[in-house]
Amino acid sequence: MTAASNAFIEISGLTKTYQVRPRFFARSRPLAAVAGVSFTVEEGGTFGLVGESGSGKSTIAKMLMGAELQSGGDIRIADRRFGSRLSAADDAWRRRALQPVLQDPTSALNPRLRVASIVAEPMRVQRSQPDDAAYERRVIELLEKVGLTASHARRRPSELSGGQRQRVAIARALALEPRVLVLDEPVSALDVSIQAQVLNLLKDLQAELKLTYLLISHDLAVVAYMSSRIGVLYLGQFMEIGDKADVIARPAHPYTQALIAASEPEHAASLDRVMGEIPSPLAPPPGCPFHPRCQQAVARCRVDKPLLRPIGPNHQVACHLAG
Ligand SMILES: Nc1ncnc2c1ncn2[C@@H]1O[C@H](COP(=O)(O)OP(=O)(O)OP(=O)(O)O)[C@@H](O)[C@H]1O
Ligand SMILES: [Mg+2]
Repeated sequence: MTAASNAFIEISGLTKTYQVRPRFFARSRPLAAVAGVSFTVEEGGTFGLVGESGSGKSTIAKMLMGAELQSGGDIRIADRRFGSRLSAADDAWRRRALQPVLQDPTSALNPRLRVASIVAEPMRVQRSQPDDAAYERRVIELLEKVGLTASHARRRPSELSGGQRQRVAIARALALEPRVLVLDEPVSALDVSIQAQVLNLLKDLQAELKLTYLLISHDLAVVAYMSSRIGVLYLGQFMEIGDKADVIARPAHPYTQALIAASEPEHAASLDRVMGEIPSPLAPPPGCPFHPRCQQAVARCRVDKPLLRPIGPNHQVACHLAG
């Protein structure tokens, strides 16, 4: 993949292999959770990662954040390289510059603390403000940024709605002025009626604060609404990657086409009901990893693994039959 010169995040050949025991007394075997993934995210842009459960989305997010060390490949953020050896200074920079917003705001927020303490905590750790009054001002400023008010500062998480709790988690993520938010299923735990409000808040914050987003969702509609570029992940590999206009309006991979069909309300069928379950990543199929579920598979797909290849200026697909 060619690296755009304005790429803020550049990921190349990223892999993560876990050793797992399929049964308690079995010998451990390698599980390729992420099997050679490359993409770039431009500054201020949103890269959307979509795929079914177990496809490797969160593992990519954890490696980007430094919560997991990659087995192979390279991560560059703002021209800093995060390979298998890390400099302490780069690591400290990354911990501040990248902040997570996760699926479940209830478990992410300490139930015993008041909102003011929750939002102030990362700043207290870094001693980023001179005195208590400055912390209080900054907490109120952050709460207002996410659509809450000073009156929420005194409440505990249990006294807030799910959407308000996710706003608190976003306020805390913004406290140290990050450059990147890693959004792992940020609205999946919320009522559908609340999801759009939180997504629109994230869009407004991105424009105001020039934030770069990695957005993870199993919901293609969420990814399509938010992203400038989209990668479709299957068993740890991209089946298709490209600008939103290409991937959503001209999906070239049968898997992307199936995801789009399943996301249309009149079908509203879950993918596994249509296509059966995703194969175990401990025993990935030979050839194209998607071939056992693919309606269009031909003999070649069972033996010959398709590599990502360009089918448009910003559009790549890993399918023998596409284009
Ligand atoms: N610490 C671990 N040890 C062993 N296997 C793991 C570990 N973490 C993840 N895996 C495996 O790696 C694969 C990818 O997991 P990952 O959590 O990245 O998927 P995901 O796309 O985020 O799924 P979901 O939509 O369910 O969150 C899965 O098969 C998972 O079981
Ligand atoms: Mg996940």
